[in-house]
Amino acid sequence: MTQNVSRRDFFKLSGGLAAGAGVAVAGLAPATAEAAPNTSTTLPYPAKVVTKAGGMKVNEPVVFNYPDASSPCQAIRMGQPVTGGVGPARDIVAYSILCTHQGCPTAYDSKDRCFKCPCHFSIFDAEKSGQTVCGQAPTKLPRIVLEYNARTDSVTAVAVDGLIYGRQANVL
Ligand code: FES
Repeated sequence: MTQNVSRRDFFKLSGGLAAGAGVAVAGLAPATAEAAPNTSTTLPYPAKVVTKAGGMKVNEPVVFNYPDASSPCQAIRMGQPVTGGVGPARDIVAYSILCTHQGCPTAYDSKDRCFKCPCHFSIFDAEKSGQTVCGQAPTKLPRIVLEYNARTDSVTAVAVDGLIYGRQANVL
């Protein structure tokens, strides 16, 4: 036997089924999330003492490697508070010096207070979190996250904000 179903009844019925399916799927979500395996490949950052804040000269880079020996970095005391700066004057920042375009080592220009890439001339602002000023670099310079210990006057690298050029993860 065939029943005639009006358009209104059809949509009421199909809407109810869709809502029911949504509830059923929503009901499954927590169980699925709990069962998801941990696929994180991120390793913890090491803590590395870079220098003593009192020994830093304004606008003169301190060279170091972080988070490992193949990652050249520089710390700079800017002489005035800057974004992300640490130390007594909140003026110490640090960056990976590898250009984010094709990995050339950049050089700090103390006159312009920025990092300049000799390969294709990208420029990164050391006072503004390493943001790209101009050039072909697609992203800012990775900023080395620093911590300052007032008791020991030490500046310690503890993480990297941004991906170091050529890596799939900063800590290998
Ligand atoms: S490698 Fe630095 S701009 Fe190309």
